[in-house]
Amino acid sequence: MDTAWVETESLTKVALPQASPTFRVRDIPVYGDAILAPMDGFSEWPYRSLCARLGSAMSYTEFVKAENIIRACEHMAPRLTFDEVERPVVFQIWGDEPEQLLEAALRIQDMSPDIIDINMGCPAKSVANRGAGVGLMRTPLKIARIFRKLSAALEVPVTGKIRLGWDNCRSYKLVARIIEENGGALIAVHGRTKEQGYGGQADWDAIAEIKSIVKIPVIGNGDVRIVADIDRMKTHTGCDAVMIGRAAIGNPWIFSRIERDQVPPELVRQMMNRHLERNIQFHGPRKGLILFRKHALRYLKLQRLPRATRTRIFTQSTVEGFISLLDESLAGMA
Ligand SMILES: Cc1cc2nc3c(=O)[nH]c(=O)nc-3n(C[C@H](O)[C@H](O)[C@H](O)COP(=O)(O)O)c2cc1C
Repeated sequence: MDTAWVETESLTKVALPQASPTFRVRDIPVYGDAILAPMDGFSEWPYRSLCARLGSAMSYTEFVKAENIIRACEHMAPRLTFDEVERPVVFQIWGDEPEQLLEAALRIQDMSPDIIDINMGCPAKSVANRGAGVGLMRTPLKIARIFRKLSAALEVPVTGKIRLGWDNCRSYKLVARIIEENGGALIAVHGRTKEQGYGGQADWDAIAEIKSIVKIPVIGNGDVRIVADIDRMKTHTGCDAVMIGRAAIGNPWIFSRIERDQVPPELVRQMMNRHLERNIQFHGPRKGLILFRKHALRYLKLQRLPRATRTRIFTQSTVEGFISLLDESLAGMA
């Protein structure tokens, strides 16, 4: 990525805006080629916005059920909270009914996302078995209807995040063509089938196949674990950008192309404090701390803390107790 680097208040380096975008989603410029993957329970505003500051080039929300948007369920609004630094912001929705997806998309378009994305990858039974998420990849004609309707009615570009399909129905090439032919503006592809879940190896050859048959931008996803994998996937597949999921949890530095084991403990501690502050601002002290624990576990993976210390940290019930134990435990490791 031909960028300059500057030290910022975000405790590490971020890319300066490039003169020209890396690619465009219809008319929306995207600067950069590493993107935080949407992850239910993880990629909410506190973490997403930190990753954006460290260089994640687009901000995908966690998926939101179309039905709940239409019912105006109150708990949906926080999932779609973002700040301006995150743009381009992608609201991801899921459902199996074209009309319902359209109505939901029209409603959330008023909340000023840059892009609306349809989830066609979720393998959870409660989603896939009713024909949504990766369930849609068994019904390509329905995908055609969804993209035709949404791309005609929405002002913002409509995109899709897919898998390879099912083991007995690897429909990814057909689905990619259908998305493009019906107005879709970008395809993100997780190189696994429904049955693979999150195990086995992601098939980067399949991502390359998709890239070779469509003209719209393609984001590759699956098994990017270290900084070097970003360029490795791009070279292997020709994709326009790379999406990083699990390897980015507790490791926002990957978006600044800094390897996790190169980050000094002092910066880890500062980032954790900053993340926890945002969690508290977003969820309140009690819930903010509880929801931070799963991130903390990942931040501290490389810090060789004794088991008893870890347990004490993770069972702290007050923010003050948590922070002072964390500071105490990490002091001297820098
Ligand atoms: C905890 C978790 C939650 C996820 N939630 C979503 C989601 O809401 N929407 C989506 O499109 N994919 C979701 N995914 C899939 C990721 O976006 C990504 O495709 C997958 O983790 C593979 O990338 P990775 O190998 O870099 O982790 C989720 C994955 C995980 C592990």
